Amino acid sequence: MKNVFIANWKANKTIHESSVWIKEARNALEESGATVIICPDFVSIPVVASLLTGSYVKVGSQDISSFGTGAYTGEVVLHSLENLIQYTLVGHSERRRYFNETTASIISKVVRARSVNVTPIVCMESVKQCQEYSTHKGETRDLYFAYEPVASIGNGKPEPLESAQEMLEHMRDLLHTDMILYGGSVNSDVVSSYIKLGFSGVLVGTASLDSAEFVKIVTNGYLNSL
Ligand code: PGA
Repeated sequence: MKNVFIANWKANKTIHESSVWIKEARNALEESGATVIICPDFVSIPVVASLLTGSYVKVGSQDISSFGTGAYTGEVVLHSLENLIQYTLVGHSERRRYFNETTASIISKVVRARSVNVTPIVCMESVKQCQEYSTHKGETRDLYFAYEPVASIGNGKPEPLESAQEMLEHMRDLLHTDMILYGGSVNSDVVSSYIKLGFSGVLVGTASLDSAEFVKIVTNGYLNSL
């Protein structure tokens, strides 16, 4: 199975900056042969999707509403994203921490995304969250999970390989899938180590903001997955 490389820009780029990044990186990302998903913020999604029309590089959102269309002021629902995204992150630790996402809301987003053929990438920080997800019968087929240890997010300190591997094995057992990515301070120097451990790809925040560094992550990581 091909590995997946996800750029999560979080709340960092203007529409102009997003389009400059895509123009800088698109050709190299396409030539890499890897599966690449770019997750801009909502306002940049249309311009990024338009620049990537017909490209192997795919677009994802950083979240979706758990509601359908209707009177939900401020929400961005899947209907509004029709034909713009193929993937969505769900349950990122920043959503859980700052926006009170719960396992129940995460599962309802997963169900909603899958109903319109948008593939969820469900983020997990701990064994406990994986247990809750499986106890509540969250779907585990045809989607990705990302192990995102909070202690390693955004601080340049990736999870030590030994404990990352332990968690990978727990997640495989609890969620009955192999489609598990690693996220947390990934850069072009460390990406290969996580791919070699058996993760199916990486979810990259800070280091994805720079187009050249993200291209390096994809090329270094992909070479080690062949
Ligand atoms: P980071 O973020 O690469 O900056 O640690 C990863 C993430 O939060 O998805």
